[in-house]
Amino acid sequence: VSLKKYNTFGIDVNASYFVEVKNGEDLREVFSNPIAKTKKLLVLGGGSNMLFTKDFDGVILKVSIQGITYQTQGDDVMVTAGGGVVWNDLVSYCVENNFAGIENLTLIPGTVGASPIQNIGAYGVELKDVFSSCMAFEIATGETRTFTYADCNFGYRDSVFKNELKNKYIITSVQFHLSKQAKLQTHYGAITAELEKRNITKPTIADISKVVADIRVSKLPDPKTIGNAGSFFKNPVIEKSVFDDLIKKFPEVVNYPAPNGKIKLAAGWLIEQCGFKGIVVGETGTWKNQALVLVNHGYASGQEVYIFSEQIINTVYTKFSVKLEREVNIL
Ligand code: EPU
Repeated sequence: VSLKKYNTFGIDVNASYFVEVKNGEDLREVFSNPIAKTKKLLVLGGGSNMLFTKDFDGVILKVSIQGITYQTQGDDVMVTAGGGVVWNDLVSYCVENNFAGIENLTLIPGTVGASPIQNIGAYGVELKDVFSSCMAFEIATGETRTFTYADCNFGYRDSVFKNELKNKYIITSVQFHLSKQAKLQTHYGAITAELEKRNITKPTIADISKVVADIRVSKLPDPKTIGNAGSFFKNPVIEKSVFDDLIKKFPEVVNYPAPNGKIKLAAGWLIEQCGFKGIVVGETGTWKNQALVLVNHGYASGQEVYIFSEQIINTVYTKFSVKLEREVNIL
């Protein structure tokens, strides 16, 4: 099976087996088959955070569990969505119903089931801020378990599902704690500026969603036309002492305070300073409006993109002594 249309990078590799599941029953059936137990397994949502560098000799499991339901109590709204729901469809649904909490996460590619794995975030909000719990199917036992907020151990683009429990569970649904009383997050620079520009002083949920959508469209390439997986690297978080040395040499370095007295740097800035913004290298390169995004101009191989990312890591390291880490999963 060609995986080209199942990964937003648009890399053309093949998988030995491909199976789509629509509910818990399908999942149990898949794992009652010995092939699924012995072969390598890859759970796929929207395929928006991976780079295939070779054919996949194993089973690709596409989670297509649908459905959105909600319960309200006073101003609180508990929204539950199937793991296969397209993330932005959930955002649209909540914006239309005036359920506040995920409007800043408008237009993030991928699915609901993938959202807790790397604690997706944008424009001042992270998934963990609205996460209530999730249900997940344990591959080894076939049992379904509930994960609370505390169980997930969320960090910046990180959770238990990327660490101790990597490849052990399949997230079948997520419950979000939203609110009818909007507590809008407008402090992120780009949002504040855009609201001012539009003379919006009392933004609604829909206003924020629209502003975020417009910013994203202007900065990020649409995977439907140019293959990409969003930010290719994480923004590096460094010790204060390392930062103090860095800012002496590079007074302009873009930085933000991070938890525990650490400092987060803008990887896009570091990459741009190395002269990489918007460059084209064969079929790959960085995006013209956002250097943190690597792109496929049409016929890139995963290897080609990977080698280019290696070159970026090395160049940034040589100039700034800061080691970039990939955010995208390499397969
Ligand atoms: N910058 C540059 N050059 C660039 C890009 C960025 O100098 O080419 C500097 C600018 O100073 C800019 C700052 O970096 O103000 C921050 O840029 P931006 O607001 O675009 O955000 P980011 O830090 O590059 C992060 C997330 C994005 C998320 C945005 C908005 C990570 C790895 N990336 O990017 O998430 O949409 O903030 O909140 O944390 C993703 O994870 O796939 C993703 C797109």
